[in-house]
Amino acid sequence: MNILILGSGGREHTFAWKITQSPLCKSLYVAPGNSGTAQIATNVNISVTDFEAIKSLVLEKGIEMVVVGPEDPLVQGIHDYFLNDEALKHIAVIGPEKAAAELEGSKEFAKEFMYRHNIPTAAYQSFNALNVEEGYAFLETLSPPYVLKADGLAAGKGVLILNDLQEAKTELKNMLVDAKFGDASSKVVIEEFLDGIELSCFVLTDGKNYKILPTAKDYKRIGEGDTGLNTGGMGAVSPVPFATSEFLNKIEERIVKPTISGLQKDNLPYKGFVFIGLIKVGDDPKVIEYNVRMGDPETEVVLPRLKNDLVEIFQAIANQTLDNIDINIDERTATTVMLVSGGYPEAYGKGKEISGLEAITGSIPFHAGAKLENGKIVTSGGRVMAITSFGNDYEEALKKSYQNIEKLHFDKMYYRKDIGFDL
Ligand code: AMP
Ligand code: GLY
Repeated sequence: MNILILGSGGREHTFAWKITQSPLCKSLYVAPGNSGTAQIATNVNISVTDFEAIKSLVLEKGIEMVVVGPEDPLVQGIHDYFLNDEALKHIAVIGPEKAAAELEGSKEFAKEFMYRHNIPTAAYQSFNALNVEEGYAFLETLSPPYVLKADGLAAGKGVLILNDLQEAKTELKNMLVDAKFGDASSKVVIEEFLDGIELSCFVLTDGKNYKILPTAKDYKRIGEGDTGLNTGGMGAVSPVPFATSEFLNKIEERIVKPTISGLQKDNLPYKGFVFIGLIKVGDDPKVIEYNVRMGDPETEVVLPRLKNDLVEIFQAIANQTLDNIDINIDERTATTVMLVSGGYPEAYGKGKEISGLEAITGSIPFHAGAKLENGKIVTSGGRVMAITSFGNDYEEALKKSYQNIEKLHFDKMYYRKDIGFDL
């Protein structure tokens, strides 16, 4: 069948890499794609939220399956758009419908969902511009650090963790009254600070059945030792060594099962990936957030470990027969290290030529913010490329990633040399 992937990051290159290995895939299109997807599929330069243009492409190319990479089109209702269109409604869309995508689109919605279904998470209250004074009073009842979250999508920047009460009050006002994150902060969730180590769990669901994919841990801060500004993710490891089978069992019983049954009880139609951000507090998992898509760079370590035909899994999701699939996972560890443009996540340059790719052996370079220009591969974003490797443990896998990175170059290339430092 002909398949379309929406997105342009390392996640989407990894999807493309995996999907082109399937005998079920005839032609693969990626919109808009990057230099990595251009080598194995056909890139089409349309935006992931231009539903009309996506419709034209789907009809013109006889596309039968659409795999949605990022959250924006899901939160804007791309799945519903397909279902409500006579010409598109038979096409498989991998990603939840709009009502369910609110699990990522609204922090308050996600917290209410967790409370309703007894899913362990941090205590919270939410506020808007009309009751900002109550927000100040609530902050006074908490002990630092204070966690403030813009309700809506804020490109990964909407969470503030502050040590000072006065600063927390000021930021609350900035968000609610002065629209620090625009509409996204017209509501703010204030929650209890959870102290522990983070990991993520990825679940496939067809709305009735679920399958759990390997865990992964990503490294979000720009600086070594987890310091400095938040990024989209600087590297990842799968599996997570501290996620023992006992701990994984707690995640499944206390979090995955009530999440999937909660979606059904609340009539939230879901065919896709559920990304559950977790924190291990003592020996117990608590949910920090839901995302309604795969993580990036977590995809770059999770999908390479999946031995199944991914298209067959997606078909089972579309047909609600996921219970018939046995998931097979490579026992080895996968790691990825992200190469970024100097300056990221603040201002950075673009259009720098990337050299050395042909010398890579024993790792897979997944392209992210990189594009083809006059036959050359040049940088086009902050996160440029994720170098994934396998090993018998994370140290062995990381060694390969770092050895291959030595062969790569672009002007002001930066990466963290300490991925896995805390494991
Ligand atoms: P989120 O966008 O909700 O994933 O939050 C971004 C980051 O903030 C998370 O990856 C955590 O590192 C941190 N964080 C969010 N909520 C909490 C919390 N309740 N306690 C401690 N850290 C948190
Ligand atoms: N790496 C975190 C995310 O994809 O949200």
